[in-house]
Amino acid sequence: MTSSYDERTVARLIHDDLAHLLHPQHYAPDHQDPIIFDRGEGVWLTDVRGRRYIDGLASLWNVAVGHGRAELAEVAAEQLRKLAFTTAYTGFSNVPAIELAGKVLDLAYPNMGGVFFTNSGSESNEGAFKAARFYWNLKGRPSKVKLIARERAYHGGTLAASAMTGLPVFWKYFGPLVPEIVHTRKPDNLECDCTLNADGECAHWVEAAIEREGADTVAAVICEPVKGAGGVLPPSDEYFVRLREICDRHEVLLIADEVITGFGRTGHWFALQRWGVNPDLMSVAKAITSAYIPMGAFIVSQPIMDALHDLPPDARFMHAYTNSAHPGAAAVALRNLQIFEDEKLVSNAGAMGVRLASGIRRALGAHPHVTNIRSLGLMAGVTLVKDAERGTPYDPADGIGGKVARHMRQEGGVITRFVGDHVVFAPPLVVNASEVDLIVDALERAVRAVTGA
Ligand SMILES: Cc1ncc(COP(=O)(O)O)c(C=O)c1O
Repeated sequence: MTSSYDERTVARLIHDDLAHLLHPQHYAPDHQDPIIFDRGEGVWLTDVRGRRYIDGLASLWNVAVGHGRAELAEVAAEQLRKLAFTTAYTGFSNVPAIELAGKVLDLAYPNMGGVFFTNSGSESNEGAFKAARFYWNLKGRPSKVKLIARERAYHGGTLAASAMTGLPVFWKYFGPLVPEIVHTRKPDNLECDCTLNADGECAHWVEAAIEREGADTVAAVICEPVKGAGGVLPPSDEYFVRLREICDRHEVLLIADEVITGFGRTGHWFALQRWGVNPDLMSVAKAITSAYIPMGAFIVSQPIMDALHDLPPDARFMHAYTNSAHPGAAAVALRNLQIFEDEKLVSNAGAMGVRLASGIRRALGAHPHVTNIRSLGLMAGVTLVKDAERGTPYDPADGIGGKVARHMRQEGGVITRFVGDHVVFAPPLVVNASEVDLIVDALERAVRAVTGA
C-alpha cells in the first residue's frame, strides 16, 4: 500500500469534507471516517491512504469502461482545446454532438428517431416526461398528462424525478410532490397467469393503474427495465412484452429508464432488446460517457420525432439545458462507445454476469440467511434474511445489509452498495473472471462472518 498523502493531510481532508461538502444521500455524522478516493485503474480504486478496493458497483453503475482510461482524458483535452462549448439552441450545432446522436440511434431500438442530450439521468427523465405530454398535446389529446411509475423504482433527484421514484424515503420533507405522477400498487382481486417479477409485481399492476386513473388522462408509463437502486429486481421474461401490449391497447407511451441498464449493462446494448420490445421514449446517462464527463439523453421514437418536426406555428418544444449537446462530453461519449466496441464489452458483461451469478449461487445458494439471489446481465442482488426457509426478514434495526457491505469493504476490499437487506453488484463491464471471483469470495466471507453461519 503506497500513499501519496501523509496522515496529517488525510486528517485535514476528512475534517474539511465533514465541514464543507454536502454529499448526496448522506448524513455527515454517520461518516466520520469516509473513504477519500485518489485514483483508479480498471475495476480498482485507491484511496488517499493507498488502500486498494474493487469497485463492485462501477462507482454508481456508471464507470462502464473502468477507471484510468487516458484516451478519454486525451480526447476531452483535444476537444476542449479545439471547441469547449457552443450553444446547440436555435440554429446552432457542433460536430461531436451530431456524430454522437447518429451513433446512439444506430445502437438503440430500431424505432428510435431523435436524441436530446442532457447532463444527468434525472434531467433525461424530466425531459422524456415533458416530451410525452408535448406529444399528446400535438395529437389533440391534452387531457393525457399523468405519468405512471412503479413502486420501488428510482428515477432521480430533481423534483419530478423524485415524484416518479417509488421509494418513499426520497420524498420525506420535500413535499408536496409534483402532481399527476402516480404509482402502481397491487390491485385487489387480481387474477392472471403472469410470472411475477423479482419484487412480486406483474404487468397488470400497471394496467390496473391506467384503468384506475383513466387512460384518457395518462400520458406515459415509466419503468426501469431492471429496478436498480430498489435492490436489483429483474422482471420476468414476459413482463415487458405484456406491458408493451397494455400500453398500446390503452394508447399510453412507454418510457424505458435505461439510465442504469443502457449501454451494455444487461449483456445487450439496451435492456429491452433481450425481449424484442421497443419503448416509445428512453432515458440514458451514466455509461454513455462512463462518467468521465457528465452526460445523459432522452431518445424519442420516430413518430414522436416526426411530430416534433411538424409543429403548428404557435407550438415550439421549449425544453432546454444550457449544456445540452456539449461538444466535450459528446467527444468523450463517442470514444467511450468506441472502446465498448473494440473491447466487446457488451458480451463481456453477459459472460461475467453469468459467472458472478453462478458464483454467488454456488457460494451462498444454500445458506440459511440468504435468499432471492437474482441477476440480469452484469447486475446481481442477494437478500439477507433471518430464516431463509421461512422467509423471515431481519429486524431493520439489525442493519444487516450495511454490516455485510462494511465487512466486504473492510476485510474483503470490495466496495458495493446495500439497500436495506439487499446487497447489490454491478462492477465495470471490463471486469475479468478473477476479479469476479474476488467479489464472490468477499461476499461469501462477509455473509458468513456477519450472520455467524
Ligand atoms: C434508473 C435511474 N434513473 C435515473 C437516475 C438519476 O440519474 P442522475 O443521478 O444522473 O440524475 C438514476 C441514478 O442512479 C437511476 O438509477
